[in-house]
Amino acid sequence: NRYTRPAMGAIWELQNKFSIWKEIEVLACEAQAELGKSGITKEEAAWIRAHADFTVERIDEIEKVTNHDVIAFTTNMAEYIDADVPEGTEPRTVQASAKILKEGVARVTLLGNPDEVRKVAAETGTDLTGVAIIDPATSEKSAAYADLLYELRKAKGMTPEQATELVTKNPLYYGAVMLKAGDADGMVAGAINSTGNVLRPALQIIKTAPGIKVVSSCFIMELPDPKWGDDGVMIFGDCAVIPNPTAEELAAIAIASAASGKQLVDIDPRVAMLSFSTKGSAKHDNVTKVQEATKMAHELAPELQLDGELQADAALVESVGQLKSPGSTVAGHANVLVFPDLQAGNIGYKLVQRLAGAEAIGPIIQGLAKPVSDLSRGCSVDDIVSVVSITAVKAQA
Ligand code: ACO
Repeated sequence: NRYTRPAMGAIWELQNKFSIWKEIEVLACEAQAELGKSGITKEEAAWIRAHADFTVERIDEIEKVTNHDVIAFTTNMAEYIDADVPEGTEPRTVQASAKILKEGVARVTLLGNPDEVRKVAAETGTDLTGVAIIDPATSEKSAAYADLLYELRKAKGMTPEQATELVTKNPLYYGAVMLKAGDADGMVAGAINSTGNVLRPALQIIKTAPGIKVVSSCFIMELPDPKWGDDGVMIFGDCAVIPNPTAEELAAIAIASAASGKQLVDIDPRVAMLSFSTKGSAKHDNVTKVQEATKMAHELAPELQLDGELQADAALVESVGQLKSPGSTVAGHANVLVFPDLQAGNIGYKLVQRLAGAEAIGPIIQGLAKPVSDLSRGCSVDDIVSVVSITAVKAQA
């Protein structure tokens, strides 16, 4: 029952699914290590098992998963996730890292001064056994990372000295270069840094995924009333990254948000391009932008169920939707809401979170070549665990 399970709703389900996969991975790793067939060593398989939380019930759950799921997952099983976490001395982050490891979600590297990290661990009663700590100021990799950063940014005017300064003094840059270098599979930060500060190194260093022009974000919204979206689960985009998207960027946000919904919460996306106008009811440049974005999104992803421009009530309420956009499979049934700009998106998700009591999970960053996740500065330890889980799922996609 969705009302009795923990508040994080959809993401707990995701985590459960992921943990089950993790346990399947352990069993498969062990079997393959026995047979000498896998790239993974017996020691690594033992490490995963030591960090997986086995219970009789969980084993029963695993047995319910079909053989097909097992085969699909074991194809990339050797790549269990290394998450780098730049805010290594932040108390919630330190506590979350131990939990992440214990739950077998990911291997964690905290970036920060080891003495300070251990002090925070002692103060919060956190056992950091198994959590790696790297001090960017003294790391043996810093020189190589500074070289890599300089190579990546010299055309933009960065000097070798600036690259060294950034890598050794700013863990967000060290973390982004570590990810770029392939020494981590994902990066999570934002418990004490603004979204802009977390994103800037990612945008400069990680860049967009092949074929993707723009980085944006979405939130998974879990509403208490199951009549909205799919059993109360909806995707809102973009609520955190692009202040004033062009029509082309808006189309990209719509397609990426739909893909995130499919990937992360397994919804069949029905995308509403929101406006203060429905199907030409108002005339304004802002409306024209949404109309153009809708046309572009149709051209780029003709298979996607997407409609616009729609007012919010036409997107969400069947009677209004069918009146204003008759025959639309989206109007009145939308589970992905695309806001026309960041003012609307950011205000919109916070209103739904506060006034409707929704859980807002994100911002989930979409479009980067490798997964970087931002945290809300008000995040809890469990929120950080959830975001690292999402990052791990994205890293394995
Ligand atoms: N997609 C792809 N690349 C991008 C994007 C994007 N959306 N935005 C910037 N870039 C690239 C630029 O092209 C540039 O690349 P280059 O240096 O290689 O040429 C690089 O990233 C840096 O660009 P800047 O213009 O210097 O970056 P900027 O300072 O504009 O920062 C940022 C980009 C941080 C995303 C900015 O747009 C921003 O601050 N957005 C709002 C964030 C925010 O405050 N959100 C609300 C709060 S979040 C919340 O409430 C949950």
